[in-house]
This record gives sequence, C-alpha cells and structure tokens, in this order.
Amino acid sequence: PLLIGLTAVIAYFCGCFNGAVIVSKYILRNDVRKHGSGNAGLTNFFRTFGGPLTFVVILTDVLKAVVAILVARELFTAGYTDFLSAADATAFWRVFADYWAALFCLLGHMFPCMFHFKGGKGILSGGTIAIMIDWRIALVVWGGFLILTILTRYVSLGSCWAGASFPFATWFVYQDLVITLLSIVIGGLILWKHRTNIQRLLNGSESKFSFHRKKEG
Ligand code: G3P
Repeated sequence: PLLIGLTAVIAYFCGCFNGAVIVSKYILRNDVRKHGSGNAGLTNFFRTFGGPLTFVVILTDVLKAVVAILVARELFTAGYTDFLSAADATAFWRVFADYWAALFCLLGHMFPCMFHFKGGKGILSGGTIAIMIDWRIALVVWGGFLILTILTRYVSLGSCWAGASFPFATWFVYQDLVITLLSIVIGGLILWKHRTNIQRLLNGSESKFSFHRKKEG
C-alpha cells in the first residue's frame, strides 16, 4: 500500500508540471487558459502563441510522463522483488506500475493543484505513456490519432480516438481485468475532458488545426 500510494503521489506531482501553463504563465506572462479553447494543452498553446516555445511545452509534457513512469517502475521493481518472485507476478506489477503512474500523472496534468486544478486534456503526456507501455498500444492510439487528425484537421477527434481506443488496445495486449479497468478510467478521463470538443464536433463549430494562427476576436 505504501508503494502504491507513494507512486501515485510522485506521478501526480510529475503530472502537475503542465508545460502549457508553465511556459505561458512564467515565460510569456500571458496564461494560455485565458485564450482560445481555454485548455492548458499543446494544441491551444500552439493555436494561441505558436513559435519555438511550443517545443518547450512538448518537452515538458513528454519528460514529466517519462519521469513518472520510470520512477514507478523503479519503485515497484525495488518493492515487489522483496515479496514476489514468480515471473508472471513480476510482469503484472511492471505493467501495473505503468498504468497506475499513467493514471496519476494524467490526473496531475488535468487537475494541477498548484494551478487551481485547471489543466489540460492529457493527449501529449498520455501519448508518451502509450509509447512507453507497449508499441502495439502506441500503434493503435497514435496511428488512429494521426490519421484522423491529418484527414479532418480536428485534433480533438484524433484525441477522442486515442482515449476511446486505449482500453481496447490494452485488453488486446494484456487481457487482464485490473489493467483494463485502469485503462478504462484513463480513457474515460480523456473523453470526459473532451466533452465540450465533442459537443462542438457534433454541432460543427469545432476549430480546425492550422499552422497559420488566427486573430482572436
Ligand atoms: O489535446 C487537446 C486537443 O485534443 C483539443 O484541444 O484546445 O482544441 O480543446 P483544444
């Protein structure tokens, strides 16, 4: 229980390092959450400010996810070898560590306690985690995301695919109830965070991705 709690707390605080909020608030002195969709994520940062600082946002959200997963793996490896030796049990805890850290890292990203719990939708960090978990899951999540986003230019549509397909890809790879339940919570959180995007997609008012920035107004 201590291990599980510690991993959750560390992953949550890693997730709180929301790249879009940090760069916009502390470097640009212009909070991204007051612009565009109001979301603290890569899409809205690029939509609002663009420019090379976008890469700092990407780096922050990718790195924090990598750190959260690596720390979880280290902690669980150190913890479970004391009381488990069977190879299959070891494999389960390695995967559990990934999904558990993923859940709390995304909770930190979506609801950062130091930024009034107003964060992003977890696509870049979640996508990074998918790559770290298993290449087949990454292929399903990223493949669909890229195809849908490029074809329709709706980033949110690709993102919804990512959230919805994640539990199916997880079940396909692991066929484990606990891991799949965690993936359903993660996918559900991502879809819930996109609820206003889904409404806009349905009524045709969602904004399309463009490399050219529009003036707000
Ligand atoms: O990654 C977030 C994206 O799916 C939607 O962002 O700003 O258009 O709501 P946004």
